Amino acid sequence: MLATSESFKSFNKSPYRSSKHSTYFNTYDHLFSQYKGKKITFVEVGILGGGSLFMWRDFFGPDARIIGVDLNPNAKKWEKEGFEIFIGSQSDINFWKAFFQAVGPIDILLDDGGHTYEQQIVTAEMVLPNIKDEGLLVVEDTHSSYMKGFGRKKYSFIEYTKHFIDKINYRFGRFEDKNADMKVWSISIYESIVAFRINKPATGLLSEIIDNNGANDNAQDFRDFDSIPDVVNNVFISQLLKIKYFEKMYGFIREVWNSNSTKLKRYFR
Ligand SMILES: C[S@@+](CC[C@H](N)C(=O)[O-])C[C@H]1O[C@@H](n2cnc3c(N)ncnc32)[C@H](O)[C@@H]1O
Repeated sequence: MLATSESFKSFNKSPYRSSKHSTYFNTYDHLFSQYKGKKITFVEVGILGGGSLFMWRDFFGPDARIIGVDLNPNAKKWEKEGFEIFIGSQSDINFWKAFFQAVGPIDILLDDGGHTYEQQIVTAEMVLPNIKDEGLLVVEDTHSSYMKGFGRKKYSFIEYTKHFIDKINYRFGRFEDKNADMKVWSISIYESIVAFRINKPATGLLSEIIDNNGANDNAQDFRDFDSIPDVVNNVFISQLLKIKYFEKMYGFIREVWNSNSTKLKRYFR
């Protein structure tokens, strides 16, 4: 797979050093191929030896605006190669404010900076509102969330991502939407990479049940037949459940029965 990867070819063509994990190239191809040859703005946090700037220029093509961000002022030298370089810290809110004022909205940001939780989370919070529809925030080396020396594990980047998953599901109309977040449409998880996709029209759709008005064959809903004891699920009982009092009692039995977690424990090891 690596031999046929377009991003791996660009990586090998780069005249300057870059090191990436071998598993990343298939993910890059999967996430970024749709932008090849397009007039996009691509930002990478973390320049180091400059090799990845050349890799992305080769991969996306000459119409892409390639921007690098680094704390090291020496990285400014890559400007003479036609890249736009911004010097500052990715964990500095004011740096990002000035950055977006200068650059405007972007299509993709790849975070390959310092990998501390603070750097990754502040970057995500500042960058997500400035990504165009169909754009991406891609954070790599997210295995730092399981390693020592990158911050408090309770507030790791992966914990932030899990919290974001809740915020996306909280958009479902029956929950309190104060817990919801409208910045991100979807989150994809790859090995050591998390990708956040932006799509404001899709994110803003109200979650409601829509019926296609097709012919109704009155199929019985078997949703509880494998989770509640058979005694509750015979036809007589299902008629009884149409009465409010029994329906309430059934709700209680369902709650107690489904909260028996011992069967599932083994999947959480
Ligand atoms: C892993 S290297 C980048 C490698 C490069 N993307 C490549 O593929 O060759 C990390 C870079 O992040 C930079 N960096 C570290 N902390 C930073 C911060 N707080 N803000 C911006 N850049 C930072 C370092 O100076 C270093 O150049």
